[in-house]
Amino acid sequence: MVTERTYLPAAGRDAFLPFYDVITRLAGFHAAIATLLVQAALRPDHVVLDVGCGTGTLAVRIKRQYPTIEVTGLDPDPLALARAEAKARAAGVPVRFDRGFADALPYPAGAFDRVFSTLMFHHLRKDDRSTALAEIRRVLKPGGALEFVDLAGRHPHNFLARILHDHQRVPGGVSDRMVERMREAGLVNARKTAERGTLFGRIAYYEAFAP
Ligand SMILES: C[S@@+](CC[C@H](N)C(=O)[O-])C[C@H]1O[C@@H](n2cnc3c(N)ncnc32)[C@H](O)[C@@H]1O
Repeated sequence: MVTERTYLPAAGRDAFLPFYDVITRLAGFHAAIATLLVQAALRPDHVVLDVGCGTGTLAVRIKRQYPTIEVTGLDPDPLALARAEAKARAAGVPVRFDRGFADALPYPAGAFDRVFSTLMFHHLRKDDRSTALAEIRRVLKPGGALEFVDLAGRHPHNFLARILHDHQRVPGGVSDRMVERMREAGLVNARKTAERGTLFGRIAYYEAFAP
């Protein structure tokens, strides 16, 4: 059951969550999202999932930009989900937010054209990353795509990232092993598309498709 599992929340500790949006905005997160959206080549008829949606910034932005797209955000953290719901309400856009985990997605096979994830994979233990990728592959439609961005390298080096992530508990950023993991999960044309620096350290963009 969802309530019996632990997870690393968005800002490392619940008490920091109210500052999460402002910090990530200052760190250039909105520009990172914009890049990911270009990469994703969304169409108005797409059905989209944001795994580890946190406070809902990406999900709400997609719905605002593409009103006909059906958008769902999923996260295990009820506090983050409450903020996401408030954000969607304030923006006046309908977005569905579900509580759940990336490695046990509560959706049928082939439900989504695009699955997004921003800064989520580094919150997962290495083994859970592979299970999550297999789940993402399962819920993607044939030809659908996984589009994600995350901290690159073994550890985030930046001071802010250390505070936010309670360093002891963070399994480390993503690496090119993610490409292998995506392939092992049955995704095709898996690749790192870009890498660049931010206030949090380097971030890397990845993409892969369901066959
Ligand atoms: C750094 S935050 C990123 C949130 C949002 N995607 C963003 O970019 O602002 C990481 C998110 O992953 C979520 N998370 C942690 N473990 C998870 C899991 N097993 N499955 C799905 N999401 C998880 C956390 O609750 C948190 O909201």
